[in-house]
Amino acid sequence: MAALLRTDPGAVAAAARRVMDRCDELARVTATDDGIERVYLSEEHARVNRLAAQWMREVGMTTRQDAAGNQVGRLDRVTPSGTPDPDVPALMLGSHLDTVPDAGRYDGIVGVLMGLEVVRMLRAPCPDGTGWRSPLPFALEVVAFSDEEGTRFGKALLGSSAVAGTWDPDWWSLTDDDGVTLHEAFVGFGLDPARVGEAARRPEELAGYLEAHIEQGPELDERGESLAVVSSIASARRFQLVVEGEARHAGGTPYDRRRDALLGASEAALAVERICRAEHHMIGTVGQLETYPGAVNVVPGEAHLSLDLRGELDGDRDRVWGAIERELDTIMGRRGLRWRAREIHSAPAVFCAPLLQDVVREGIVSTLDRGVDGPATIFSRAGHDAMALGAVADVGMLFLRNPDGISHHPDEDVSAADVASGTRALAEAVLQLAAARG
Ligand code: GLV
Ligand code: MN
Ligand code: MN
Repeated sequence: MAALLRTDPGAVAAAARRVMDRCDELARVTATDDGIERVYLSEEHARVNRLAAQWMREVGMTTRQDAAGNQVGRLDRVTPSGTPDPDVPALMLGSHLDTVPDAGRYDGIVGVLMGLEVVRMLRAPCPDGTGWRSPLPFALEVVAFSDEEGTRFGKALLGSSAVAGTWDPDWWSLTDDDGVTLHEAFVGFGLDPARVGEAARRPEELAGYLEAHIEQGPELDERGESLAVVSSIASARRFQLVVEGEARHAGGTPYDRRRDALLGASEAALAVERICRAEHHMIGTVGQLETYPGAVNVVPGEAHLSLDLRGELDGDRDRVWGAIERELDTIMGRRGLRWRAREIHSAPAVFCAPLLQDVVREGIVSTLDRGVDGPATIFSRAGHDAMALGAVADVGMLFLRNPDGISHHPDEDVSAADVASGTRALAEAVLQLAAARG
């Protein structure tokens, strides 16, 4: 279909500049003196919500912070006769504003800010001069999700799960590193835990969910392309593993008398790499490792390690976890160790809706020079809010090139030119969806 967006290149370049400047501004809202860290229900979370609300109002949206601390902006539809129509479903655009420790400044954030620029490009003035409305057959919402990373409570996608209506009451007793429960943190932030259900959206309220995000991997950079359609998001499981051995004197204990938990944990980490490498589209990471008692002259008696396991398909992910379990039984048995696992996160693979993949593709094509091949369609190994939203709406995603594929690191980057193309593509995708939905 022919491109529908009518906006001048100067406006698109200005939108991209605003997105980049605001990424810098949000990067200054951090809990640490050097580097960026912003976790759920913190003072920094409240501050970025206030900034997002201000920027939402600036593009004509009404704003609210929902019952789980997500910041929501809405632009109601206006009918052709000029009357507001608050009851039509909303197309939701968004991503998250929380970060991992020592984060980059674009993961999640760029998608929220691009959503606001799309609203700026597509809104129409109210005929009575009282503000702005969506001229599309749906309302437009932009959501800044409050917790995607799960950094504080170990459980990812808390904000978007509340919106999807999949909040699990068992989560209230999760604790952060200071022993503060999720329930206590809610109250401390000024939220009422009893009302978290009010954040949930019903399927009939949503026309779909579209998320723009940096790729967090090298595929687009290696292909020399700036944008991609996302086909699906990896299924994931996360575990805390405990290996138990026996603490003993480091000098006096001969090797054949040792039950060294760190060596068992180390072999376990290597086994995860070996097993996942032999598979297609599986990846496993041990990102945390602690030993107890943790003294230079004591054989480690206990080791705690994390495991993050991702795969394209749930069945492959679960089969690989079974293989890891069997291998750990062998390793620990050989070393006289015991081990156990506690699952702390599980999310099924989520497939982007064919129609939303098509409109994202149309959006990207509208930014390409004539004669260039169609855009790449890639599978996301990283997790996104779209995974949670999949429970309540059709979802689609647009990826932006991530130079050197580095993310969850201060060097994470995206270019202003790619943000300009991506914002244009996202706005075009919204218009194509409007045309398809009539
Ligand atoms: C979130 O960024 C994740 O994929 O862990
Ligand atoms: Mn992330
Ligand atoms: Mn992210």
